[in-house]
Amino acid sequence: MKKFKIVVSRNNVIGTSQDTLYGSFIEHLGRAVYGGIYDPKDVTSDEDGFRKDVIENIKNLDLSLVRYPGGNFVSGYFWEDGIGPRELRPTKKDEAWISIETNEIGTDEFMKWANKVGTEVMMAVNLGTGTATNAKNLVEYCNGNGDTEYANLRRKNGNEKAYNIKYWCLGNEMDGDWQIGHSTVENYIEKAKEAAKQMKSADPNIKLIACGSSGYTMKSCPEWDKKVIEGLYDEIDYLSIHQYFFENSTEEDFFASYKAMDYFISMIRSALEYVQAKNRNRKEIYLSFDEYNIWYNNKSLPKEYTIAPPILEEFQSFKDMLVFGGLTNTLLNNCDIVKISCLAQLVNVIAPLMTERNKGVVLNTIWYPFYNFCKYTRGDVLKTYSLNDYTFNSTFGETSYISKSIVINDKEVVIQLVNYAKEDVEVELSLEDINDLKLISHQEIVHDDLSAKNDFENKENVLPKYKKNSVSISDNKVSIKVDKLSYNFLRFAR
Ligand code: AHR
Repeated sequence: MKKFKIVVSRNNVIGTSQDTLYGSFIEHLGRAVYGGIYDPKDVTSDEDGFRKDVIENIKNLDLSLVRYPGGNFVSGYFWEDGIGPRELRPTKKDEAWISIETNEIGTDEFMKWANKVGTEVMMAVNLGTGTATNAKNLVEYCNGNGDTEYANLRRKNGNEKAYNIKYWCLGNEMDGDWQIGHSTVENYIEKAKEAAKQMKSADPNIKLIACGSSGYTMKSCPEWDKKVIEGLYDEIDYLSIHQYFFENSTEEDFFASYKAMDYFISMIRSALEYVQAKNRNRKEIYLSFDEYNIWYNNKSLPKEYTIAPPILEEFQSFKDMLVFGGLTNTLLNNCDIVKISCLAQLVNVIAPLMTERNKGVVLNTIWYPFYNFCKYTRGDVLKTYSLNDYTFNSTFGETSYISKSIVINDKEVVIQLVNYAKEDVEVELSLEDINDLKLISHQEIVHDDLSAKNDFENKENVLPKYKKNSVSISDNKVSIKVDKLSYNFLRFAR
């Protein structure tokens, strides 16, 4: 069996993963909101029309934040349409997704849902068709405590207590020509600067996230990012970046997605460090990787405007799940700079969780690594050194067959390994200053069909199982047998 050695030290820490690394995203898009989190006609729906089965599953994830309300949708959305008495709310065309928006769900309803799920909301403002003043008014509506117009409007709508939303996105993907209101970087900076000024006048404590690149393949990347950081240096706390992965060339390149994500992060890290160096000042600006996932099907838009058309719905395969596991490793291994991340998205739209009315939910293959990531990987992420790396060639250079991350917290050491090799591998870990580990569980996901999926016909086709006798521990060495093409999540008590 191929042997692979990794050296880790308790004192060699990349960073501590921030709670906001464990986020996701709900957009007014397809059946994410209507028919996803909200469906008064579903048997499980509660007094507010929210699906209880969806709430229960999402609660289990312990998500720290959910980005809302878009996405491309936000660039044409007027938040004022979604508040107040429902019968007075306008029905409008959503040009981003060729859909009809009824505005049945708006800010107040979403905040209520987030509260039921137990998560914070990261709110995006419209910097496409919206103005800086619209954005300021929304901050005041959500966070205002005083006797002012929009805070009073929130109270009038039945919400006495301010929502105190901390994280605010200054628009969405403004570098992309598909975006409503897409502009030059100079115009974006000017608009975002004004919005930041006005939004902070409504609440000086908010944290602002500016639009970086919508992917490393964008021609403007990383120049766009550098200019945004330079132009908004004093205003922002985070730069947002997005990347979706799919199998569009070789299988090797798809498996190397974890490395591609790492490469993208390092590009933006360099842009940030360049601006910090130029400014002779290391103001803390971090990355918000607030859209990532596997996405390659169903990119076409509807031909006609309808309410909640089923678009961007994916049943990710076992192979996609292997790639997804690697992405979560990359997020952890860059947690010194990536402080926020949002899986795009959460329900029905490129999501880990799918719904059908009165048919319950399907947990897609990617649900399982996402669950482990959210639930168990909070703590110090340790740097790993590979001694005899076992690699393949990809567009992103020499790529290890084993994607890995190691996290330590007060109670546990957690190791996530994805094996992209078509042969079993023995991974030997030498642990420095980490003693007396006791195996809690070795969860594995394998399937003999790389294209296997879970769906409404077969909800349990791809499931984690628990391995026995795969781990041996002696002194400071842990040896783990990892099957070919497998996802592995190991928890050790310390
Ligand atoms: O998540 C789906 C879409 O992908 C989002 O609306 C947009 O921001 C991105 O292009």
